Amino acid sequence: MAPEPADRQSSSIDGSPEDALRPEGVRHGILIVDDEPAILESLELTLGGDYVVHTAPSGEEGLAILEAHPVALVISDQVLPSMSGVEFLERAIEINPRAIRMMLTGYADIGSLARAINSGRIYRYISKPWEPDEVRLNVRRALEAYDLATENTQLASALADANERLRAENLYLRREVERKYAFDRIIGSSPAMNRVFEVMEKVAETDATVLITGETGTGKDLVARAIHYSGRRKDRRFLAQNCASLPDTLLESELFGHTRGAFTGAHAEKKGLFEVAHRGTVFLDEVGETHPGMQVRLLRVLQDGEIRPLGSSDTRRVDVRIVAATNRDLRKEVTEGRFREDLYYRLRVVEIELPPLRDRRSDIPLLAHSFLDASSQKMGRDIRGFTNAAMDRMVSYSWSGNVRELENEIERTVALAGDADTVTVDMLSEHIRGAIPDADPRVDDLPPGMTMNAAVDALKRRMILDAIQETGSKTRAAEQLGVPRQSLQKMMKRLGLKA
Ligand SMILES: Nc1ncnc2c1ncn2[C@@H]1O[C@H](COP(=O)(O)OP(=O)(O)OP(=O)(O)O)[C@@H](O)[C@H]1O
Ligand SMILES: [Mg+2]
Repeated sequence: MAPEPADRQSSSIDGSPEDALRPEGVRHGILIVDDEPAILESLELTLGGDYVVHTAPSGEEGLAILEAHPVALVISDQVLPSMSGVEFLERAIEINPRAIRMMLTGYADIGSLARAINSGRIYRYISKPWEPDEVRLNVRRALEAYDLATENTQLASALADANERLRAENLYLRREVERKYAFDRIIGSSPAMNRVFEVMEKVAETDATVLITGETGTGKDLVARAIHYSGRRKDRRFLAQNCASLPDTLLESELFGHTRGAFTGAHAEKKGLFEVAHRGTVFLDEVGETHPGMQVRLLRVLQDGEIRPLGSSDTRRVDVRIVAATNRDLRKEVTEGRFREDLYYRLRVVEIELPPLRDRRSDIPLLAHSFLDASSQKMGRDIRGFTNAAMDRMVSYSWSGNVRELENEIERTVALAGDADTVTVDMLSEHIRGAIPDADPRVDDLPPGMTMNAAVDALKRRMILDAIQETGSKTRAAEQLGVPRQSLQKMMKRLGLKA
């Protein structure tokens, strides 16, 4: 009474062998491989009520079933027609690695079986003849182990997903912090600087070429670095090259590299900045100073992303972001024929114009305090601030050297401050001391809608207080303000100022 293995095989549910999810109520699939029909039939009788049983008389047919059906447990005889049971189970692992494997054994060649069990290839063996109840129990346990393993795999992958999400979030937060840090070093709250920050923020994440213009000391360098360090190339290098500092050939070899013997003194091959900065940023400082030949080469990098080292006949592709800066008026240079128009347009895909400090005077107090703190700390002093009069002079001064000049002025003041704890007018450099406050009256600081009388009173109040603080007496304050002492007295009373 041979069973019909082929019929049974086709009675299984559909689904791929990798199908890990077993919806509620769907029974586990079991594959039994044995060349003795009686054994297949008997095991099928034992298990068929609870599971979807597939049977196969040979290893080859068993593997074919594994390919086509979801199977959670494989039971194989130890000896099969064309391969051993161990061999069959090894091959079963390749098709369905998660299925639990059990071995039927008629005789006790426990040695090889034990090895297979110990190496984890086989879950357990069933010895012939068997007790149906014992087989059912063993199969139930094996499938519980299978379910647990499946659940673990799912948990592990859910965990891995969650970890990945967390990692991505962390990375994002870190980026934000770094970006803020990069931007934070640039001080400014004037509308002009806020516009600069806005543009920087927008371009940082892109690869767009940026041209930074502005007078000397306005922070072009700082902005170039911040763009690199807040963008996606920040883990790569930021390499700066001052285009005005080198003679033509040397600049060319710095930027593009050279082959051995390309020119006298080129003893070895050298890579240029554009190659060294691979996937990073090259900062071309003072790009307005470049000669026509160099301008052509730069155009080639920007246009085709290609460089040719000096002395070489091959071109190489480079992946760099270019940020350039100049304190010249490049548009004028173009009109006057000193700068290539095509290069100009390639460079200024995005232009960031840093306004001179005298056009954003409201940033001066912020900058001055920050430099004061830094210098005091550096020199171990404890200078806490400026008198209003000193600050007024600084705000009124024209700062042709811009932020750099302000930074230097404060460093100098702190170095010469002795034990003073406040910077007063007489501690400032002579030319700054001479700056006439409000020679260039600024009304942009006033709250909108303020009447003229209120504004004048506010100004008087401030000037009087400053003068008294500065001179230490009403008589001298009146002198400094150029009003008779009695008038000062009356004015103070009217303005609600106590002596
Ligand atoms: N907004 C700012 N906040 C803080 N420090 C600034 C700011 N702008 C400039 N600085 C400081 O001023 C000095 C000059 O800045 P930077 O070197 O960036 O100017 P630059 O425009 O590149 O000048 P140059 O044209 O002379 O090369 C630096 O020490 C820089 O840190
Ligand atoms: Mg610079």
